[in-house]
Amino acid sequence: MSTTPTATAGKGLEGVVAANSGICWIDGEQGILSYRGIDIHELAKNSNFEETAFLLINGKLPTRSELDTFRKELAQARELHPEVIEIMRRTPKQTKPMEVLRTAVSALSAYDPDEDSNEHAANLRKTNRLLSQIPMIIAIWDRLRKNKNIVPADKALSHAANFLLMLNGEKPSETAEKTLDIALILHAEHELNASTFAARVIAATLADMHSAITGALGALKGPLHGGANEATMRTLYAIDKAGADPVEYVKEQLANKKKIMGFGHRVYRTEDPRATHLRRMSEALGKSSGNPKWFNMSRAIEQYMLDEKHINANVDFYSASTYTMLGIDIDLFTPIFSMSRMAGWAAHVIEQHDDNRLIRPRAEYIGPEYPNKYTPIEQR
Ligand code: COA
Repeated sequence: MSTTPTATAGKGLEGVVAANSGICWIDGEQGILSYRGIDIHELAKNSNFEETAFLLINGKLPTRSELDTFRKELAQARELHPEVIEIMRRTPKQTKPMEVLRTAVSALSAYDPDEDSNEHAANLRKTNRLLSQIPMIIAIWDRLRKNKNIVPADKALSHAANFLLMLNGEKPSETAEKTLDIALILHAEHELNASTFAARVIAATLADMHSAITGALGALKGPLHGGANEATMRTLYAIDKAGADPVEYVKEQLANKKKIMGFGHRVYRTEDPRATHLRRMSEALGKSSGNPKWFNMSRAIEQYMLDEKHINANVDFYSASTYTMLGIDIDLFTPIFSMSRMAGWAAHVIEQHDDNRLIRPRAEYIGPEYPNKYTPIEQR
């Protein structure tokens, strides 16, 4: 077989199909997102994070007893090795939560009994542990950096409720639990986004689940990907602090060729179906809290971006105001994205390991012409 590249991909691999996958189907023109063929709107309305995670990881909706077993396994996995907590204790307090999370997930592999195996059953066990341990790391780090005591996990609570309990030290309201649960469903999977692609590339070398998830966390951190929800809230705070008109602020940013965080998407050419739910939740929280400021500001920006630039809000735009109204610190937004996306990452790592071939594309060479002369250092 020839080793000469045959096709050139567009910049950023736009439009390139890089894998066969049975996990997620997106129609960017019509704004359809589905997990294992089930529409995201149905899941947001009827499902919960645990059931959605089971669907993504196992390829089908669970029966009642399968879901009960899965919930029990997740609850049992709510244990974090004391040495991983010790690593966190020794980390400088100003370290960003995404960096602590990336380090702690990497460290977890040293204590995982299945570390050496990429077998399907071992990957499922590692997935359960990581699903439960990632939210614990986020909550524990937030408590440690604020010199607060670590709150023990409550194995009777849902994934969302246990996280909020460990973060805030008290059981969440029904509204807070439900809001976070829906946000977790919406963020759980999105085909070959940058972090998932990174996870698959790592898994395809037959590296282990923890390596793939550590790499995915690094990719998610960037403001063009998962970091956009934090960047969105920083924009809203900047507008508020300056007492500026949101539309005027955005106009000025655009005039200076700056991108508006939380807008645009590589795949969607219409409304991001996840934004529909987050907008609704942001509005509802604004009303119920009697403080619709963040929602109103977001709405004004969204309208302007649509009318003037024809660019839609993406998943990150309204998650920013939603999380803020739940009382969550800005720099926890992207870590929360990752506690949900862990389900999708794991599904992709397992799919890759179960039917693997190394992912190794070619580059279109645009450097100096070959053969280029080697000049000895004295003559340069
Ligand atoms: N604000 C202003 N203009 C934007 C924009 C935004 N958020 N997103 C895209 N555009 C414009 C670009 O300036 C470009 O215009 P041009 O053709 O006149 O130069 C055009 O839309 C295409 O943008 P491009 O950056 O090439 O698209 P992409 O597919 O490479 O990037 C994103 C997709 C998501 C990275 C990009 O939309 C972005 O940076 N958004 C902000 C970050 C964000 O919210 N990320 C989360 C994604 S879920």
